[in-house]
Amino acid sequence: MQTAEIRDKYLRFFERHGHVVVPSSSLVPENDATTLFTGSGMQPMVPYLLGAPHPKGTRIADSQKSFRSQDIEEVGDNRHTTFFEMLGNWSLGDYFKTEQIPWMFEFLTSELSLDPKRIYVTCFRGNDVINKDTESAEIWQKLFTEKNIDATIVDFPERDGMQSGRIFYYDEKKNWWSRAGVPSNMPVGEPGGPDSEMFWDFGEHLNLHEKSAWKDEVCHVNCDCGRFMEIGNNVFMEYIKTENGFEKLKQQNVDFGGGLERLAAAVGDDPDMFKIDVLWVLIHYLEEMSGKTYGESADVTRQMRIIADHIRASVFLVSDGVIPSNKDRGYVLRRLLRRSMVAMRMLGSQADWVPNAVAAVILTYKTAFPVLGENTAIITKVIEEEKNKFSATLDKGLKEFNKISSQHAITGTDAFNLYQTFGFPWELTRDLALEAGQRPDEEEFKAEFKKHQDLSRTSSAGDFKGGLADHSEVVVRYHTATHLMQKALRQVLGEDVWQKGSNITSERTRFDFTFPRKMTEEEKAEVERLVNSWIFRDLTVKREVVSLDEARKRGAIGLFGEKYADEVSIYTIFDPKTNEVVSLEFCGGPHVEHTGTIGKFHIQKEEAVSAGVRRIKAVIE
Ligand code: SER
Repeated sequence: MQTAEIRDKYLRFFERHGHVVVPSSSLVPENDATTLFTGSGMQPMVPYLLGAPHPKGTRIADSQKSFRSQDIEEVGDNRHTTFFEMLGNWSLGDYFKTEQIPWMFEFLTSELSLDPKRIYVTCFRGNDVINKDTESAEIWQKLFTEKNIDATIVDFPERDGMQSGRIFYYDEKKNWWSRAGVPSNMPVGEPGGPDSEMFWDFGEHLNLHEKSAWKDEVCHVNCDCGRFMEIGNNVFMEYIKTENGFEKLKQQNVDFGGGLERLAAAVGDDPDMFKIDVLWVLIHYLEEMSGKTYGESADVTRQMRIIADHIRASVFLVSDGVIPSNKDRGYVLRRLLRRSMVAMRMLGSQADWVPNAVAAVILTYKTAFPVLGENTAIITKVIEEEKNKFSATLDKGLKEFNKISSQHAITGTDAFNLYQTFGFPWELTRDLALEAGQRPDEEEFKAEFKKHQDLSRTSSAGDFKGGLADHSEVVVRYHTATHLMQKALRQVLGEDVWQKGSNITSERTRFDFTFPRKMTEEEKAEVERLVNSWIFRDLTVKREVVSLDEARKRGAIGLFGEKYADEVSIYTIFDPKTNEVVSLEFCGGPHVEHTGTIGKFHIQKEEAVSAGVRRIKAVIE
């Protein structure tokens, strides 16, 4: 079954159940400054879930174009993509669990003919405030039982039950949905609710325990081993966070979201997302262009996946008005295009591939998204121009490479210099060199890399201005990430955490703070999670110059023991929609304008500096 047919079946099915099918909103959110891109189907629906009347009524369905920039670096494995379509249906104060769950079951098992024996579901197990969702679990149980399937309900992590269960209760980390995550992270005014998710079982043979994040546990539907894949999420959105905790919204909503590509992978019963028709068409084209075969080596597979995902996403982004640049959305698009161009070089293809790759995407999607057809010329031009710009840099590097390799075999140090000057990744130099029968030393490359890092550390340690090595775009992103990290540390470890110093280069941020003991793994993970959730929410960063009194009154924090002038510069990182202030610090800047451009935050090391002072080294990826 083709992806287009699944999309069509879904929309027609919900149309038959009284829904109005609306077109996808733009990837560039309208009237929503909180985020750079539309990343889910429900994002454009928030006002209506809160009670504003939708012009098309109380039953809406669509297939929403979605883009998640935080997944760029993950692309290359068999399941991550930056662009995807999210099928959605909404009850805006209309039907609820007793309709939604049987409809979904019917859609999956009758319309898509998925074997119900290979579908598993999860429900919310409740917390101190909100009850366990037994109603959903019982509806599911009845549906499975009617198909003669044993439908035991199990509380995760009831170890022995994991093998025989069908319906699993999980806590709020897995089965509560709000844009901000778990209930305690939700700002006042944010809607949310328990959810019930559906999973497809690709088969026991895929239970790759050694790769599982839960390797000491029995495999279960939410583990990452690759056996199970979430194919849809029914959110029963009936709560709102208030000053006093949780209250019922004035209406009970259903917010269903299901990744179209994931459903197609389940229907095709192949966990490799790139085998579905809409992506395979590009992979096939890349095979023809390069003369290589998908699957012939891990590198080739990875490069083809990167190009297929990034070019598809770029076509949709340009069609929605995004142009490559060094800022915000344009910067993300530029990264996608440059990454795919490097991957294309590594595949060894010299041909003029842009118009054909773009045409392949447009041809695949123009029936569902006619605007792509109308924008073909502009999309091709924008992508072509960016390719030409970047090609010039790549070409210069290639010339240098040829010069060196004609004089002597490329060494690890040469590879590092090519990386440093022209942005050549290690793999690119290695593969060029291998063709010429040369074998640069990877260890030497890594050693040079490290030497450079150490050098930049020592040379800049003495004369950092405000802790920053320079004001380059990367350093500025690290700087804002450091503010978020300080806030997260105070939230996780307590208000006795104070900054003692910082030192930020283009490779990492180093942050010293007061705290009496080693941080636990859980504490580090929580700090990372908090910082990444703020990055994901694409908060606004604002500078103001105020009196010292006012800054103190507003609770600004700064370097421990530092003296400040009467007029001070402060930076606020806040959610412009709710005005929730996440971070407020005395600081001279500079900072990014939106946290969404920072990248993914990761703590590399936490260690002692002296008694009562700890040091974190963290990177953004
Ligand atoms: N809001 C849910 C999600 O985005 C379902 O649409 O996953």
